[in-house]
Amino acid sequence: MSQPSQPVERYETELFSGGRTDLSLRGLPPGEPQRLGPIFAGIDPWARLGYKAEALSAYLGTLEKSAPRYAIMIGNEVAGVAGIRLNWLRGPYVQFLGILPQYQKHKLGTAFLAWLAHEARRHGEQNVWVLASTFNADALRFYETNGFERTGELADLVSLGTAEYLLRRKLT
Ligand SMILES: CC(C)(COP(=O)(O)OP(=O)(O)OC[C@H]1O[C@@H](n2cnc3c(N)ncnc32)[C@H](O)[C@@H]1OP(=O)(O)O)[C@@H](O)C(=O)NCCC(=O)NCCS
Repeated sequence: MSQPSQPVERYETELFSGGRTDLSLRGLPPGEPQRLGPIFAGIDPWARLGYKAEALSAYLGTLEKSAPRYAIMIGNEVAGVAGIRLNWLRGPYVQFLGILPQYQKHKLGTAFLAWLAHEARRHGEQNVWVLASTFNADALRFYETNGFERTGELADLVSLGTAEYLLRRKLT
């Protein structure tokens, strides 16, 4: 029996600011998926997990209504990229989060997670989810600083011989 389709949640990118006037979220500008794929393929965790530049470019360049990709902008410069899957487990799942090396540790990742939690709450959701590789100590510290807790370990999920933690931020 067919179910009526659920409306896709719409998260308001206009509400992203990180407390600064020069930050914004938007769709990836033309050409950016091709430029950014090789950059992210060259840094961990994607380098160590064996992601190919073309695969990352293809992911970043694909339009999917239920899984929007965003450029995190400082003025007119792309400083990072995020991709989320909406309506995952009573809340969104962060599929991709990468801040370009020269912009890391400037609270852009924190600003993105704060925006996402705010939007998820606004839609009555209870969780934000993310996977991080067990070897990615910086990212684990980053997520735990931002209110995420490890809920489980998944072996051989992204590549054989590595493991991922599934982290959850409870919004209630
Ligand atoms: C992990 C990442 C998304 C964090 O975003 P960011 O904008 O650099 O992080 P923020 O500036 O918001 O960091 C906030 C906190 O996270 C922690 N943190 C972030 N990066 C860190 C690093 N490289 N080393 C140590 N702690 C780090 C710190 O606790 C920091 O708090 P502090 O500034 O008070 O010390 C970003 O560094 C990145 O893209 N890294 C490479 C790719 C990656 O690992 N992505 C996540 C895949 S799951």
